[in-house]
Amino acid sequence: PRLWLIVPAAGIGKRMQAECPKQYLRINNRYILDLTLSRLLDSARFAGCMVALNAADHWWQDADASKDSRVQTCTGGAERGDSVLSALHALAEQVEDNDWVLVHDAARPCVHSDDLTRLVDTVLGHPVGGLLAAPVADTIKVADGTPPEVVKTMDRRQLWRALTPQMFRYSMLVDALEQALASGHPVTDESSAMEFSGNMPVLVEGRSDNIKITVPADLDLAGFILNRF
Ligand code: CTP
Ligand code: MG
Repeated sequence: PRLWLIVPAAGIGKRMQAECPKQYLRINNRYILDLTLSRLLDSARFAGCMVALNAADHWWQDADASKDSRVQTCTGGAERGDSVLSALHALAEQVEDNDWVLVHDAARPCVHSDDLTRLVDTVLGHPVGGLLAAPVADTIKVADGTPPEVVKTMDRRQLWRALTPQMFRYSMLVDALEQALASGHPVTDESSAMEFSGNMPVLVEGRSDNIKITVPADLDLAGFILNRF
């Protein structure tokens, strides 16, 4: 079966507080979005790639990837889940129901090709699909009230950080996202939409340095990680 790549890149990067969306900030003089796309496209053979862009985007035309014939674009939506669903719909004419789709955040340029390969190898044998995830290093508290008081401590051995890529069958993912979004269930990643439809994905342990660039300090951190590869 074929693999397709979807990269949601329609966010505005509010927490980064930069003058442009964070995927268009530069590390080593390249757009973060270009770093992310070239890393993925060089690491696996994809049948195609769909990037979801903000309706008000005016930076994409300057991206290296905009000249790459493997890359197509569509308009994203209000939330990340809407952007992913819009990219899935944009691929509808090209894919078959059983094809696999990998969804990867534009803001994660540090993804390692070894992790991508292990994710694909593992998930190809799984009925639902799966995602990269990293074990949680800190002890996690559940708290309530102001000031917050501890309600309980979670068992850390059961806790994982959900990363991307997340890999699912095309038609299963479309159905799950449509259902979850229509019912107002929070869809912070593809896995949560699948879980909502009762399908439990497999976790594939990935490197903890596959960070999502979110706040200004993450830029230096990502530069450090990338220069060490
Ligand atoms: N994203 C998207 N469409 C949206 C919101 C987010 O395609 N409506 C994308 C972002 O561009 C990013 C990824 O989803 O690559 C992860 O989202 P996040 O890190 O939250 O990025 P932003 O929403 O841009 O940042 P913020 O939440 O700080 O505004
Ligand atoms: Mg966001």
